[in-house]
Amino acid sequence: MEDGEFAGVAAEGSHAEAMEAQDLGNEETEFAVAQDGDGGAAWEAHLFEDFAGGGNGLSEDGVFVGDVFGDGQEVFRGKSQVGGKSAGVAHDAEDGAAGAMAAEMALAPRALAAGEIDFADDAAALHFADKFVAGDAGKAVVAAEEFEVRIADAGEADADAHVALAGTRQRGFDYLDNTVFEPDSLHRFYNEESSMRSYLACFEATCGAEYPVTEVIYNCPRCGGLLEVRYSEIPSEPWTLKQVWRERRMSNHPLDQSGVWRYREMFPFLEDDRHVMTLREGNTPLLDGCLASSYAGVDRIRFKHQGFNPTGSFKDNGMTAGASQAVRLGMKRVACVSTGNTSASMAAYAAMAGLDPIILIPNGNIAFGKLGQALDYGARTLQVEANFDQILALVRVLAEKLGIYLLNSVNPFRIEGQKSIVIEMMDQLDWEVPDWIVVPGGNLGNISAFGKGVQEMHRLGLITKLPRFAVIQAAGASPFYEFMKAPHAGGFVPNTHPETLATAIKIGDPVSWPKAWQTVGTEGVVESVTEAEIADAKAVIGRCGIGCEPASAATLAGIKKLRAAGKLKADEIIVAVLTGNVLKDPDYIYRYHTNQLQDPHGEPIRGGYANPPVVVPNDVDAIAKLLEA
Ligand code: F0G
Repeated sequence: MEDGEFAGVAAEGSHAEAMEAQDLGNEETEFAVAQDGDGGAAWEAHLFEDFAGGGNGLSEDGVFVGDVFGDGQEVFRGKSQVGGKSAGVAHDAEDGAAGAMAAEMALAPRALAAGEIDFADDAAALHFADKFVAGDAGKAVVAAEEFEVRIADAGEADADAHVALAGTRQRGFDYLDNTVFEPDSLHRFYNEESSMRSYLACFEATCGAEYPVTEVIYNCPRCGGLLEVRYSEIPSEPWTLKQVWRERRMSNHPLDQSGVWRYREMFPFLEDDRHVMTLREGNTPLLDGCLASSYAGVDRIRFKHQGFNPTGSFKDNGMTAGASQAVRLGMKRVACVSTGNTSASMAAYAAMAGLDPIILIPNGNIAFGKLGQALDYGARTLQVEANFDQILALVRVLAEKLGIYLLNSVNPFRIEGQKSIVIEMMDQLDWEVPDWIVVPGGNLGNISAFGKGVQEMHRLGLITKLPRFAVIQAAGASPFYEFMKAPHAGGFVPNTHPETLATAIKIGDPVSWPKAWQTVGTEGVVESVTEAEIADAKAVIGRCGIGCEPASAATLAGIKKLRAAGKLKADEIIVAVLTGNVLKDPDYIYRYHTNQLQDPHGEPIRGGYANPPVVVPNDVDAIAKLLEA
């Protein structure tokens, strides 16, 4: 085996040999296991964490010391000398912990090379190839399909399980060439051949500082303002874009099948589409809700139902973008605070990407359906004794301290993905702009994304007018509503004790309020609705055969209220965005329909549309009589 050679490592069983084969000696590639990307001691520390014990360990400068692994140690030393500039997988064929370590490393999101290690006497074969991706600094050394790691004697059952799970995680990098019905040249990122530049910019007009799109920041380092992703140009004609987006609906290419990435020209911040993590999100329908329209006193409401997303909420539209950026940046861990939907979504995308998801949730304030999803997707889940706003402050510090990538909506890449909701909406409306887009407001990321999306579509000439926005908040958690009643008086005042059964919007200090303010502007409105109004509206949406989770129903309650106040006309074109799936909060549904629902102060909510289940005897006649009554 020659130094630097990679594919087809022989199964001699000598781990030293195998590891030598992995040492590419290629100064241009980088084995980026560490979070800080500095190479050297940092990655070494991570690399060897599972080797600690048995006399093995790291010296102060991160060099492996110890002798248990014999020849392997030499290889390690070699690696430490090149300090993160070599690629490959260190692995010990005779130690169980090594298996675990290899798996750990295989999950590193920006290892830059792939090859084959084939250990003799293997008990299990695991494929890690798809964990290795080409990154900024180097090229993939060996095609992923050729990469196979076999674990010999994986040791303890725990290590076994860890390896097995890790080995079965997927990444979606190899699908690009698998598409049969793919309209030529449609699937690529437009900026691949152009000089298009994407960058982060401070949202505050008085600052306007710019930063590279690869910087891991969530607020402007200069002034603390919100950040947004900007592009120097979208190099295409509106008509061409519309045509391309339509044609992509016939494509079997994963990027085209995604209702987010189909519109990728509108958020071309990735340079390499192999970083895209997609669960085929988006593609959510526009549904007519006749009963809901008459309930609200308007001619027609169309519901853009984001609950049809893979994890059941609009968060998937943003999370695919945020998770892809995490992969592009080479992050290893991602985190968020969540009332449910964000955590489920982040956990799913992180799992798919081979990133470690860490979610923090307000203890006792998360719907079980969502918690269940997060656990199932393998998220490390921490229930914190604090509310959403407090935990957001906490997780931001934690992310900074530990180098974890934050995926709450303050992350500007989430906002880029969520723009696709309004883009897809316009596409589905054949680019006829609705008079109103109605959306529930919590942390105000979604409305901010919608605002950016429609502004950009308008600037490009994709739409010829701007819709008006109505943001609906729950009365007990409505700081934005209060602020918008008198925007300039005294600045934004957070609600320190937000209360609502619609847990998704139980937020008192929404981070994106400046963007939301700009979006709503003078033409839009912000309304607040009571718990009972939300509950009844939710039941009506259910009766349409559509269904949604409580926060989403604030839209219909808001439309009814705005209509009654004459702020919205009966014949206007209205699209309400249902943000989450009906299955999010079955407990709420059951209580409503059995008249057991109580508001946050313990006051009963009498469901105007209650539909309680009836207990019947096992008796045909009795049941028939009941049904015919
Ligand atoms: N609707 C649903 C179903 C949500 O899950 C959320 C937010 C919102 C509306 C509010 O959207 O924050 O963009 O104004 N849920 C977050 C979560 C807080 O953790 O899942 P926003």
